[in-house]
Amino acid sequence: MAQALLITIKKLLMTLQINSLEDYQKAYQSSVENPSEFWDNIAENFLWRKKWTQTLAYDWSVPETKWFLEGKLNITENCLDRHLASKGDQTAIIWEPNDPNDAAQHITYRQLHSKVCAFANVLKNNKVVKGDRVCIYMPMVAELSVAVLACARIGAIHSVVFAGFSSRALAARINDAECKVLLTADGGFRGDKVTPLKDIADEALKTCPSIKKSIVFQRTKQTIAWTSDRDLWWHEELTKVDDSCPAEVMDSEDILFILYTSGSTGKPKGMVHTCGGYMLYAAYSFLNVFQYKPNDIYWCTADIGWITGHSYIVYGPLATGATTVMFEGVPSYPDYGRFWEVCEKHKVTQFYTAPTAIRALAKHPLSFVTDHDLSSLRILGTVGEPINEEAWHWYDDNIGKNKCPIVDTWWQTETGGMMISSLAGVTQDKPTFATLPLPGIQPVLLDADGAEITDIKAEGILAIKQPWPSLARTIYGDNERYKNVYFSAYPNYYFPGDGALRDALGNYRITGRVDDVVIVSGHNLGTAPIENAINEHDNIVESAVVGFPHDIKGNALYAYVITYDGVIQTDELITEIRNLVAKTIGAIAKPDKVQFVKGLPKTRSGKIMRRILRKIASGNAGDLGDTSTLLNPEIIDDLQKGFDKN
Ligand code: PRX
Repeated sequence: MAQALLITIKKLLMTLQINSLEDYQKAYQSSVENPSEFWDNIAENFLWRKKWTQTLAYDWSVPETKWFLEGKLNITENCLDRHLASKGDQTAIIWEPNDPNDAAQHITYRQLHSKVCAFANVLKNNKVVKGDRVCIYMPMVAELSVAVLACARIGAIHSVVFAGFSSRALAARINDAECKVLLTADGGFRGDKVTPLKDIADEALKTCPSIKKSIVFQRTKQTIAWTSDRDLWWHEELTKVDDSCPAEVMDSEDILFILYTSGSTGKPKGMVHTCGGYMLYAAYSFLNVFQYKPNDIYWCTADIGWITGHSYIVYGPLATGATTVMFEGVPSYPDYGRFWEVCEKHKVTQFYTAPTAIRALAKHPLSFVTDHDLSSLRILGTVGEPINEEAWHWYDDNIGKNKCPIVDTWWQTETGGMMISSLAGVTQDKPTFATLPLPGIQPVLLDADGAEITDIKAEGILAIKQPWPSLARTIYGDNERYKNVYFSAYPNYYFPGDGALRDALGNYRITGRVDDVVIVSGHNLGTAPIENAINEHDNIVESAVVGFPHDIKGNALYAYVITYDGVIQTDELITEIRNLVAKTIGAIAKPDKVQFVKGLPKTRSGKIMRRILRKIASGNAGDLGDTSTLLNPEIIDDLQKGFDKN
């Protein structure tokens, strides 16, 4: 243990970072030819309590995947303890508040270690033990990172729920994982809005019998209700503990966290990530894609409620001893220059955001950018959805001043880490292309019959051929669904649900989802849960929701809705429908457009032909393709007329 602690960040950088195209090619080749040796060499750069006995075991017909079998570790010793000797006084987290007039916090590795240990003791005092599930529903305060790490410290499984979700969505996630404790806040600041998180949580907890305690962080100081045998103030609990907390020894395959993502059926999927493989891949991919160097200041603008925040605000950067910025606010507050003001203020070197944010900011006068000194920036990144050419060039010209490589990182909640991306300045970027797979990742393109397309230049269904360490191991409580969604359509491949094309040099460009998931402003939304929410309205018989192209959001949602006979189809009803979706799922899932229709285009087997609905919603009804298998072709005219009026 003591010897392992001597591995400093410098060594980690030297051994894990790929610095040239030639190194990338070598690493890639060895990862394919000899995966066990390749991953063993990487794993040896981390702190293990006991070395693994086998690198990998998998059977995708079960499906089951295991990495670093019998290895023992705690991820927080890798993210915190081992940095204390060499960089205890270095800033681990720079927390930038919503209001630029408030002070930023600079939390060193030593301070973060102390905060995490103290809060881990709070959890223990409240009877949280290894394996218990803890739901975290918090704004982007530094304590959110502390909470996540404190769970990991004692082996509790965290399930972070994005603080924009509604009480029903929160309750569904708490109940699915049977969480024992909820960590929340009185409220959260986002721009000029205050989200009443405690009120929303209280509403959720009316239907969550598994929750024994709710620990409330005080952020907004607003008036809140209090349930005295359940609710506890975060700051009061901290007065009862010290900051010494040994790390729980975890098996490599023990669960680290659950994170819910939308699926194409109603229930969200609790993706399960485990300790060893996830840690390794988050750190390795972070170091290589962002080419992090000592003293860099790295900023990912995501929320920790999404996988991007888990892997690339918290775990990846901290496991490599980086300085990571956490931002509480929004890009438009107090004005559209906020991102650039923060970059200037903290001298950010790597900046990672979503295409939707870039498109939104590009609509405003360039002076919001040029008012700020962006000369510290070295590397830019995007994530969450395909980036269009125009947005890519705006980012390159105005933010990177044509000097910063742009990494377009394709990955998913399920993959745990970045899968296809350039390595900044090491491999070539290409506008609108995620480009090449990271070492260890073997993408293929499949045709409609599931056969691998061997031509290099091709378009098809994206699939991954071999397991990688941070693949989600299952859906919490539902391995059958995991098998059906990811491993059944194309046996022996992992099927991510995206289409892609490949250029003659092997660069991949993601063309979008091939299932009923729509990416709205970088958020992955299943259409089925939205339809279920709409159908709950007393006046609605049936609905179908599809995506359509949107200038800023990438895609927006279009709902076709059938009402009961005699219902008057008013604008008020449309508002009610949109509000019902916001209440059931969250404001992010509200349809932009709602059209009342007499019927939906269906096949003889009763399946809605969504292809037709998508075409009409995107204004392309001239090209509806084959409609001969429709049971009710006459409906198309009605759909089109309604669209023209909408
Ligand atoms: O469709 C792909 C899209 O986002 C989906 C994954 O969503 P989620 O699990 O919420 O994770 C988002 C953050 C990693 C993918 O199946 N997607 C993600 N990154 C890209 C992308 N589409 C195109 N280009 C990307 N860089």
